[in-house]
Amino acid sequence: MKIRNFLLVSMVVLIAACGEPAQHRINSETGMVERIFDENQIKHGEAVYVANCVVCHGHNGEATSEWRKTGPDGKYPPPPLNGTAHTWHHSTEVLKRTILKGGPPEFGSMPAWEDKLTEQQVDDVIVWIKSLWPDEIYDVWYKNFEGK
Ligand code: HEC
Repeated sequence: MKIRNFLLVSMVVLIAACGEPAQHRINSETGMVERIFDENQIKHGEAVYVANCVVCHGHNGEATSEWRKTGPDGKYPPPPLNGTAHTWHHSTEVLKRTILKGGPPEFGSMPAWEDKLTEQQVDDVIVWIKSLWPDEIYDVWYKNFEGK
């Protein structure tokens, strides 16, 4: 076996042995948690988002800056998902549940997606949403919810 092939095979074995690739690393200089998301997962998540969520939450998850005000029907509009509203105040589990089950109908018009999307698609779209957040927001979110 050529040395290059040998290295390649060893790497694949190593990655397989480690299971899921890490999604984070700590920056040793700043102490901040940094994302190392899988680019393919982000792409899959973006496709799910474009097909299903853009109409309400906007192209880059920006929705409306007026998300705190109820509309004429007394319901809240779709909030931004890009880190400028409160999406990052929720754990991954809560975000997943909101997407699968939808929001309370008296509160807003967030549909339930459990019959339309697979769990994998929901996981992918959550990774895409998290990829929109500014570095500082992600760091605080991670330390509050995952890093305990
Ligand atoms: C018909 C409009 C509409 C569509 C389509 C829609 N949403 Fe929503 N979404 C809302 C509204 C309104 C809320 C706020 C009310 C609530 O949380 O119940 C919301 C809330 C959310 C939240 C919680 C946000 C927070 O800050 O707590 C997430 C996450 C979310 N949506 C993701 C998605 C994803 C992912 C899709 C596509 C698969 C999607 N939404 C499609 C209207 C929509």
